[in-house]
Amino acid sequence: MAMSPKKLHIKTFGCQMNAYDSERMAEALAPAGFELTEAMDDADLVILNTCHIREKAAEKVYSELGRVRLTKEARKAHGRDTMVAVAGCVAQAEGEEIIARAPVVDIVVGPQSLHRLADLVAKASTGKRSVETEFPAQDKFAALPQRATGKRQTSAFVTVQEGCDKFCTFCVVPYTRGAEYSRSPSEIVAEVERLAARGVREVTLLGQNVNAYHGDAAGGGTWGLARLLRRLGEIPSIARLRFTTSHPRDMDDDLIALFGDDEKLMPYLHLPFQAGSDRILGAMNRKHTAEEYEGLIERIRAVRPDLALSTDVIVGFPGETDADFEDTLSLVRRVGFAQAFSFKYSARPGTPAAKLEDQVPEAAKKERLAALQALLEESRHAFDRSVVGRRLPVLFEGKGRKPGQVTGRSPYLQAVHVEGPEALIGHIAEVDIRAAGPNSLTGVMN
Ligand code: SAH
Ligand code: SF4
Ligand code: F3S
Repeated sequence: MAMSPKKLHIKTFGCQMNAYDSERMAEALAPAGFELTEAMDDADLVILNTCHIREKAAEKVYSELGRVRLTKEARKAHGRDTMVAVAGCVAQAEGEEIIARAPVVDIVVGPQSLHRLADLVAKASTGKRSVETEFPAQDKFAALPQRATGKRQTSAFVTVQEGCDKFCTFCVVPYTRGAEYSRSPSEIVAEVERLAARGVREVTLLGQNVNAYHGDAAGGGTWGLARLLRRLGEIPSIARLRFTTSHPRDMDDDLIALFGDDEKLMPYLHLPFQAGSDRILGAMNRKHTAEEYEGLIERIRAVRPDLALSTDVIVGFPGETDADFEDTLSLVRRVGFAQAFSFKYSARPGTPAAKLEDQVPEAAKKERLAALQALLEESRHAFDRSVVGRRLPVLFEGKGRKPGQVTGRSPYLQAVHVEGPEALIGHIAEVDIRAAGPNSLTGVMN
């Protein structure tokens, strides 16, 4: 009987760094004969790449594992085996507990151990379950195969920095992703050059704290994020650069200046402020005040007036009063965000804020979140409407929903739909923006 290739299904939760890791896992398993499939019931190996940031995110893993178990049983009835791996931040945070709680799981692998995945799969095929959640000294990026496979894409993510030393009191990331670590500039440049050769036009540099990037250069010295971005901008076919997520404390002068003088750096910045009250910011250990945050925005807007700002906000942090929450709303009104992600505070095991006495009742959190989201939606629509009538360069990424349509992104990361040929995909063209819908813009090309 001829051996058909083994099938791999990866389901990704959480942030873009998980999306990046999922791509790298697929690449790491390709030499072992695994091909990606969209259908879980086709898969010989199912990987859940998980997120631990909020309780809801972490719970999803177990409900998903219930579904995986049913799939596994159905396949078994047809004589097919299914291997199951849990990767990502829940794997890191819960380790052995997952194996104990979910017998369907064969492999638990933390985000720092992805380069061990092929070995763990080989081991699991002999019936051995394993948990790998060490923070190895070895650089997982160097140990992973070079990025070569994957579908043709216009825009790609590249993780340049991992982990976080900030220890905001609500956050699990310093525990699940470990201490801050920056990849070397040469490794990143090589990766982006390979992506460029495959047709990638836009690169988004990723890190939990990306603007804390400090890579050791081969010739000695340390590169900050601005220097790295400048270097990547020298790659001719790379037309657009972005980076996310930044911490206000790490926005240095070089990086601010770059928004004014590097045409390839897009006028879009994701800069979480979390809360508008200085008392709450202090309790969160954010290391900045609301005034410092706004001062920073002013400085960046001085060099790039059309900057689109995006942010993350938490409501209902322990001790947050109505007055504190009002400070959050008024900051949102003053700054005007083009995009935002907002969350109810979720107490996470092992974090300092989870132990605080004055937890905010669920009903108050819910009410505050609704009020905040209404305001943020208003702000987003106002930003979208502000570009109607302008001519914007759009990088086309794919076919639109309707036949004859293509879709791309404005410099401000807005989705733009136009009538046009598929040949536009991978290219930048000027588009007259005609209308702003609930989630995207439409325009015409002349
Ligand atoms: N490294 C990034 C974001 C990390 S997580 C940063 O520093 O901004 C993404 C967002 O999830 C955070 O910005 C925060 O708004 C939210 N978040 C993190 N922990 C949370 C928690 N315990 N409850 C609710 N939201 C949380
Ligand atoms: Fe979490 Fe704060 Fe680090 Fe962001 S800066 S990852 S919110 S600890
Ligand atoms: Fe979630 Fe881990 Fe990212 S906790 S947000 S997947 S760093």
